[in-house]
Amino acid sequence: MTSSSASSAALETLIGFCAAHPVPDTDAPRFLGRLNTGPQAIIDWRERGVVAVLLDSVMGGNKTVPFEICGLASVSLPSVLAEDLLHELARRAPMLGARANELAFTPIWRPHKQLAQSLGYAHSYSDCDMSCRNAEWGPDAPLPQGAFWTDAAPDWIEAYIEVLTTGFADVPGAFVPRPEEIRRYLAQSNIRARILIEDDRAIGLLRYTEPDNYINAVVRAGGQSGRGIGRLIMDEARRCLTQNGNAPPMTLTVVDTNTAAIELYRRCNFEIDREVTVLIRRF
Ligand SMILES: CC(C)(COP(=O)(O)OP(=O)(O)OC[C@H]1O[C@@H](n2cnc3c(N)ncnc32)[C@H](O)[C@@H]1OP(=O)(O)O)[C@@H](O)C(=O)NCCC(=O)NCCS
Repeated sequence: MTSSSASSAALETLIGFCAAHPVPDTDAPRFLGRLNTGPQAIIDWRERGVVAVLLDSVMGGNKTVPFEICGLASVSLPSVLAEDLLHELARRAPMLGARANELAFTPIWRPHKQLAQSLGYAHSYSDCDMSCRNAEWGPDAPLPQGAFWTDAAPDWIEAYIEVLTTGFADVPGAFVPRPEEIRRYLAQSNIRARILIEDDRAIGLLRYTEPDNYINAVVRAGGQSGRGIGRLIMDEARRCLTQNGNAPPMTLTVVDTNTAAIELYRRCNFEIDREVTVLIRRF
């Protein structure tokens, strides 16, 4: 067996453990297989009933690394295990180049708030899950003259990466994957990516996942603010996602400090269903 086939076999085994012991709202194959740089980012403590990962492939400019529990054999996370995981991630994060860790305060972590605080975790922001059950926010706004929407893949992938990177620069809580990961997910059959072109340049993008009507990304290119492009993207989302009369509500996740985005979504009848606190600890 080559070392790469040995490591992919090891990865399949970890993914198998996580499938047998799933954590709600956690995409273990993607976290373990795509969003980290290798074994040093994966805490493989299957003998203690847990597999977790530092997502060091999606660190922002401020070198903050997200952390996810991908598989958990017990109903809840025992205190000793919680403490050991937080120590272990703090040991590994600087070796992976991280200066801080973000921890989504999901139900798994809720009993361990005091522990997290005692280790230096503090509130950073909240992730808001929003949904729109009534897409009647008025007629579609007209596109700028000559502008048009088209699929991002396969012809506009580099432009898509450019808009994603420039648009998300300095947005709190936004983690932009590496270009190869973006190219990979754009090739997936259930991912839809649309891009708005004006004068041969990309000025905005929309990405969504079928069939659950989840909006993954709403981004206008850097330098294009004040033109109403956010609204044009939401109109495109409505055209793409509500054609089917039985379509489920449109949903998305946004950081509570992203005032521009929250205001845009509210104008499009999105309401907050759930908020998850995200804690940060600097090393
Ligand atoms: C969110 C985003 C798409 C909005 O795009 P935009 O082109 O600036 O928005 P629009 O010009 O269409 O504005 C639509 C409405 O949004 C709100 N809005 C836009 N910018 C705002 C700001 N800085 N503060 C408060 N509200 C704002 C306003 O209600 C505005 O309506 P108005 O112009 O009638 O007042 C854009 O800021 C962006 O790409 N941000 C970076 C990526 C991002 O954060 N995406 C969302 C992640 S979930």
